[in-house]
Amino acid sequence: MERNELCWCGSGKKYKKCHRLIEDKIQYYQDKGDIVPDRSMLKTIPQIEAIKKSAELNTAVLDYVAAHIHEGMSTEEIDRLVYDFTVSHGGIPAPLHYQGFPKSVCTSINNEICHGIPDESIILQDGDIINVDVSTILDGYFSDASRMFLIGNVSDRAKRLVRVTEECVKLGLEQAKPWNHLGDIADAINTHAKANGYSVVEDIGGHGIGLEFHEDPWVSYVSPKGSEMLLVPGMMFTIEPMINEGSPDFFIDEDNDWTVYTIDDGLSAQIEYMVLITEDGCEVLTK
Ligand code: MF3
Ligand code: CO
Repeated sequence: MERNELCWCGSGKKYKKCHRLIEDKIQYYQDKGDIVPDRSMLKTIPQIEAIKKSAELNTAVLDYVAAHIHEGMSTEEIDRLVYDFTVSHGGIPAPLHYQGFPKSVCTSINNEICHGIPDESIILQDGDIINVDVSTILDGYFSDASRMFLIGNVSDRAKRLVRVTEECVKLGLEQAKPWNHLGDIADAINTHAKANGYSVVEDIGGHGIGLEFHEDPWVSYVSPKGSEMLLVPGMMFTIEPMINEGSPDFFIDEDNDWTVYTIDDGLSAQIEYMVLITEDGCEVLTK
């Protein structure tokens, strides 16, 4: 870009007073050998505005689920709540027909790590912990977040896992700031999980998001501090570690090709925030 042209990001400022400075800094890190985002991974101001609207609807869907989830209901009913609420607010559930996924939301109970498929025969039982993972398309823009829900009287063992998972995400969030690296987020999460006797799933991670459901970068939650991609204002991705009581290993349901289970039948919990890297930290867009 020419120095005096208007910046590509839509700020209305000249390039030399806007992203020229940021891109020079990115170049400096790249010359040092860092993995850096390319321009396509940095959202423009109009894109950010549109994605925020999608994210607001996504949060509203999760709030709606939170208000209606209860012991004795089927996960199929959760699917219906998500579909009806999303569509009546002008959105589309992103999971529906995504790579053949048959439902509008992922519902993963107890030893299911992620990608559980809602079904009439799956009834929420007293003592269950369930992850409800909601992803929304609004006006072509994508958002994604998930929460844990405790059904009835949950064991102290399960409560501790969910609490530590929340703490992991918050600690990861503190590291989500410009000129840090994705590995700083991962290390904060992995260190806290391990200190509590838990493990972090390695081969399933987070992802860039906004213009597509899953964009680059892929986000690990076990990488060392200082490793992985440099964080730059305008990047958007999910922080969604899966924390297991026992082994981090898993297997995938042979019948449906989706649902991921812990290999040792231990409990697993996941919480997902979608974040935007800002000039001085990050903004949680949906959680
Ligand atoms: N929110 C989930 C994720 O990002 C969605 C998985 S794809 C689906 O991992 F088809 F299962 F929804
Ligand atoms: Co996700």
